[in-house]
Amino acid sequence: MKKIIKAGTVVTAADTYQADILIEDEKVTKIGANLHDSEAEIIDAKGMYVFPGGVDPHTHMEMPFGGTVSRDDFETGTIAAAYGGTTTLIDFCLTDKGKPLSHAIQKWHKKSADKAVVDYSFHLMISEINDAVLNELPTVIEQEGITSFKVFMAYKNVFQADDETLFRTLITAREHGALVMVHAENGDVVDYLTKKALAAGHTEPIYHALTRPPEAEGEATGRAAKLTALADAQLYVVHVTCKEAVEQIADARRKGFRVWGETCPQYLVLDQSYMEKPDFEGAKYVWSPPLREKPHQEALWNALKSGDLQTIGSDQCSFDFNGQKDLGKDDFTKIPNGGPFVEDRFSVLFSEGVKKGRISLNQFVNLVSTQSAKLFGLFPKKGTIAPGSDADIVIFDPNAERTISAKTHHMAVDYSALEGMKVTGEPVAVLSRGNYVIRDKQFVGKPGDGQYLKRKQFSMNHKAESQTVKM
Ligand code: URP
Ligand code: ZN
Ligand code: ZN
Ligand code: ZN
Repeated sequence: MKKIIKAGTVVTAADTYQADILIEDEKVTKIGANLHDSEAEIIDAKGMYVFPGGVDPHTHMEMPFGGTVSRDDFETGTIAAAYGGTTTLIDFCLTDKGKPLSHAIQKWHKKSADKAVVDYSFHLMISEINDAVLNELPTVIEQEGITSFKVFMAYKNVFQADDETLFRTLITAREHGALVMVHAENGDVVDYLTKKALAAGHTEPIYHALTRPPEAEGEATGRAAKLTALADAQLYVVHVTCKEAVEQIADARRKGFRVWGETCPQYLVLDQSYMEKPDFEGAKYVWSPPLREKPHQEALWNALKSGDLQTIGSDQCSFDFNGQKDLGKDDFTKIPNGGPFVEDRFSVLFSEGVKKGRISLNQFVNLVSTQSAKLFGLFPKKGTIAPGSDADIVIFDPNAERTISAKTHHMAVDYSALEGMKVTGEPVAVLSRGNYVIRDKQFVGKPGDGQYLKRKQFSMNHKAESQTVKM
């Protein structure tokens, strides 16, 4: 099977140029001017951008949370991802204390294997460090190719790990070449503020934000960065929302430590005031960490532009408004945290970022694809368009206009956090390893076609990159 993508503008994290792309079976084999092959199907990409498929480093498909389970599973979630131009996602595998890690991993394989329509991998949550966990980690890294571990510094009495667990995870990760990810909020402070708010009779969604101040995120981010320095390890801070956290990451990087940060589209385009919407609608906008006041958005955009933050994750974790979010009608702490974004991550960043002049086209590709592929051991198989890379390709109409709505999105959830938002730019066709998953804006893929990706160990080559000293 051969395809030639003709006359598009190829955009990678490094370059923008006019070229044809030859795809043979699952791979890109040639890039050049006026490619010919009599056996190849021709895909006309004139006037289109040709991007590497998006890599979403942060999703939660079918994830148990607060007595319910996130609505999108690996089928609806990866279909929605494909519509939005994302061809690889890395989901968080939740572990149970006291049980072998392999149980959790098998559970996640079961959830995903026959369902995914694009390629996927897992991060593993670390909730405790003991001999059993330490003994199992090398197998997880080498056999499962799971080379990133997440530690929660918040969600007290649920997921929260203590500093010893974080520190020992960092040391283990350093030894075995893994990247440690943190959900950085001071869970003890949040817990105290939450109890105080409830005792004072505050039950509305906005109190979710008021009990999780930016300082609690900044403090945890700084603590994690310092423990990383002490362990001489490497850290990736997920869903950064505020300037307090950005400053901690920037400071650590300036000092030469291996620290990276991700933000999410919701924090770039929505703000805390959404949580005050009447009739409990604020619950649609409950994430942890929470949406922030508007000035933080500019801090995040600036950090993406300057390189202080390096990736965009969707943090896809969708719950219906009716029947799930409303578990918290009388108590904001019972609102399931998270929202639907896997479909819109790519196009919102293009529309709000590139079209509005906040980031360059190449920065866009780096943020939505390349940098995540590099950090999580998938590059150059994923994250770029080059001979030898998987033919995961998005043919993107930069001028298409569309209005986001729950009526037309493909996520299995009954609302959109971006209802009514106008965006410019849309994928017209999406290839996953050379096969169409989206063609003429319609899904043509098949559940089960997505493959599990074993990832490479964390490369110390990243060290130099993080040591750029700023004057
Ligand atoms: O609110 C969020 N972010 N829900 C998903 C779980 C997490 O903390 O990433
Ligand atoms: Zn989190
Ligand atoms: Zn009050
Ligand atoms: Zn998350």
